Amino acid sequence: MDLRDRILDILEASRGRHCSGEKLCKTLNLSRAAVWKHIEGLRDEGYAIEAAPSKGYWLAEGSDVLSSRAISRRLNTCLLGKEVRFFRETTSTNAVATALAAEGVPEGTLVVTEAQTSGKGRLGRQWLSPAGCNLYFSLILRPPVSPRRAHLVTIMASVALAAVLRREYGIPVGIKWPNDILMKDRKLAGLLTELKAETDRVEYVVLGVGINVNWAAGDMPKEISSIATSVSEAAMHAVSRLDLLAWFLEEFENLYLGHGLESPGIVDDWRSLSCMLGRTVRIRAFGRVVEGVAENVDDEGRLLVNTGKGIELISAGDVEIL
Ligand code: BTN
Repeated sequence: MDLRDRILDILEASRGRHCSGEKLCKTLNLSRAAVWKHIEGLRDEGYAIEAAPSKGYWLAEGSDVLSSRAISRRLNTCLLGKEVRFFRETTSTNAVATALAAEGVPEGTLVVTEAQTSGKGRLGRQWLSPAGCNLYFSLILRPPVSPRRAHLVTIMASVALAAVLRREYGIPVGIKWPNDILMKDRKLAGLLTELKAETDRVEYVVLGVGINVNWAAGDMPKEISSIATSVSEAAMHAVSRLDLLAWFLEEFENLYLGHGLESPGIVDDWRSLSCMLGRTVRIRAFGRVVEGVAENVDDEGRLLVNTGKGIELISAGDVEIL
């Protein structure tokens, strides 16, 4: 364990109290100047460490650091996030993860950033990604399935995220096909899966997740403030991004490693969390507009819409709930 992790262990063990500089020096066998240098290094990584000459050092309450170190210290997984690439800012975590996947990084590698300059949404849209309040991350997966079943990664991840938001924050979210997480018809999170595959084999899947975490409605740009919300708005309290990220990765890993992508139950779980089955919808896809009742989702993740004249099978598109 490196010295900065040991300093954090000591400060975390004395949360709510101060830890004297002398105690840190003695325990770590370091000079005061060396302790100070490491504290400064941790502050540069984003840790809010307070100091007062007569008291020593302590961790500020409620600080929400995202960094490789903070994530690795918090995670309890055996595959997802074992390797973390953290950026203060990047173009798009999906773009970075795609490049890393092509270089052959291990399955489970997690790319996380504080802010994206070209965050990508579905259907070529932009994903607004301001710094300091939300989660933007991508996971590199190498599932041993045929390309036709790769979309099950997104289904499984949206089930895991909805389950965590319900269990940990009591937010009754629903999933809107294909993979928007909604609270009372306002979008709280979105998933974007990109893959490279041969005819019968997936080389890699990049699962990108964007979650509005502590984004106050008043800070959202006008174009989305009436259609988006955030976890903190829905839960009515500030939320630790680190906890949310860790809970999601643990939940998703349990499903991914536990049942595997071929588990038939996952589409049933998705159906039970859907907020649109049985509702009238309008779908725009490839220049076509289909209107009808969203009846079901098949085992390949396609939406079955009853138009009154028959059943349409929709595999991609933009859904409006009417
Ligand atoms: C959607 O349109 O609902 C999907 C949004 C996905 C956004 C996430 S943020 C992290 C990852 N990197 C990206 O550029 N996009 C995804």
